[in-house]
Amino acid sequence: MAVSATSFADTISGDLIVRAERPGATINPPIYGQFAEHLGHCIYGGLWVGENSSIPNTRGIRNDVVAALKKLNLPVLRWPGGCFADEYHWRDGIGPREKRPAMINTHWGGVVENNHFGTHEFFDLCEQIGTEPYVCGNVGSGTVQEMMEWVEYITSDADSPMANLRRKNGRDKPWKLTYFGVGNESWGCGGSMRPEFYADNYRRYNTFVKNYSGQHVFRIACGPDSANYKWTETMMGEVGKRMDGLSLHFYTIPSGSWKKKGSATEFTEAEYVSTLSGAYTMDELITKHSAIMDKTDPEKKIGLVVDEWGVWTDVEPGTDPGFLYQQNSLRDALLAALHFHVFQQHADRVVMANIAQMVNVLQAMILTDNEKMVLTPTYHVFEMYKVHQGAKVFPIELKGPEYTVGDKHIPALSASASIDKEKKIHVSLVNADPVRAAEVSCQLLNVAAQKISGRVLTADAITAHNTFAAPDVVSPKPFDAYQRNGDQLRVTLPAKSVVVLTLE
Ligand code: AHR
Repeated sequence: MAVSATSFADTISGDLIVRAERPGATINPPIYGQFAEHLGHCIYGGLWVGENSSIPNTRGIRNDVVAALKKLNLPVLRWPGGCFADEYHWRDGIGPREKRPAMINTHWGGVVENNHFGTHEFFDLCEQIGTEPYVCGNVGSGTVQEMMEWVEYITSDADSPMANLRRKNGRDKPWKLTYFGVGNESWGCGGSMRPEFYADNYRRYNTFVKNYSGQHVFRIACGPDSANYKWTETMMGEVGKRMDGLSLHFYTIPSGSWKKKGSATEFTEAEYVSTLSGAYTMDELITKHSAIMDKTDPEKKIGLVVDEWGVWTDVEPGTDPGFLYQQNSLRDALLAALHFHVFQQHADRVVMANIAQMVNVLQAMILTDNEKMVLTPTYHVFEMYKVHQGAKVFPIELKGPEYTVGDKHIPALSASASIDKEKKIHVSLVNADPVRAAEVSCQLLNVAAQKISGRVLTADAITAHNTFAAPDVVSPKPFDAYQRNGDQLRVTLPAKSVVVLTLE
């Protein structure tokens, strides 16, 4: 293992000041959102097994997966894609399942999609998990009429053709459609459009996304890929307040090359630091896109919706390259935690983020193999960090060393702090150094809390991961390596760890 530049001591140290007297913006719960696409075994096998499966299910949806997801207080779920959304025709996914037409999923493995999981099944899944739906519409290969009728089908309570079709298919009352995306990656798989052309298309399609039954559907426009600042400029100029949110997609590729992205479980320390640096790239992207948005929207009324993010590695050996099935290590848990610190720091602009994806695809929470299920290290970060949802973020100042491998360097330490409605304070900390523990002195100004509790996520190796045979290699443990002295709290973070402390 390579040695970092500041590695002559056994421990590193840092200083954290939490400005508890100055609570800032509310952390939008939807930044802890997720994404489920018709891709590989995310929907089929991962979430949907069908009513006749021997795997315990409720109306075809896996009970074990729903039970695990419920523990995350999942605020929002995006569906049906991704690239799949712009070739999905919703009418093929309603009515008796045996009569639904099949299609080819051209983006993801060219497999036959039987449309057994459609609109009714998606809203049932959301109701079972207890989460808000975010449906992405088809601009790339669908018509305006098709999109208009889908929204009517989902949300109208009138004696109208689409509402009556929904009733005929077994659902009397409309569902609540909280978020609606007008196309996905319209600059790429969603239609290879130029920003000006998409902006006009957005204006046209969005005109027919009506608000029925007193609902206001939060409209999300396709935003930029990574650093495509021209896209953001154009959308802000040509679309502006016609959208409630503008999406941003950015994936972390460990090697930096799409051709050979790197293994999910066998990687060097250089790949480890390069992967974690993805969170700092995300910070830069949000900062710069937000600055462009500020020019015409200084009040930050239009939200940035990071509706695809996460680490994208090579697929597991022997699996279909079109299914994007990858393992998930302690490294990826740290990456998730660092992303949450970034999203929370930008709570005034970032209103939602959806990790890609929920089950069996990319940086998943859950992996399944027939009846078996395992929770990934990333799942545990979502579970540990749920305390921040809806809390107010505190400004912080953090000083600490750089963690350097070769020409890559990132801050060794990262933190975020918030106060929830019950006045509990939550401090989350990451020590990215893979070898040395970190002594962090936290100055907690104006914090009267008496009781402190904590949990830690770490393991023997940065590559550590959970398998069906060994599901608890990386799982949260109680944490008490801290000492309080008045306004000072000294915390000893293990190497390569995530810690969440609660003060009440
Ligand atoms: O999440 C996998 C794919 O990545 C999505 O379908 C697409 O939107 C993005 O390119």
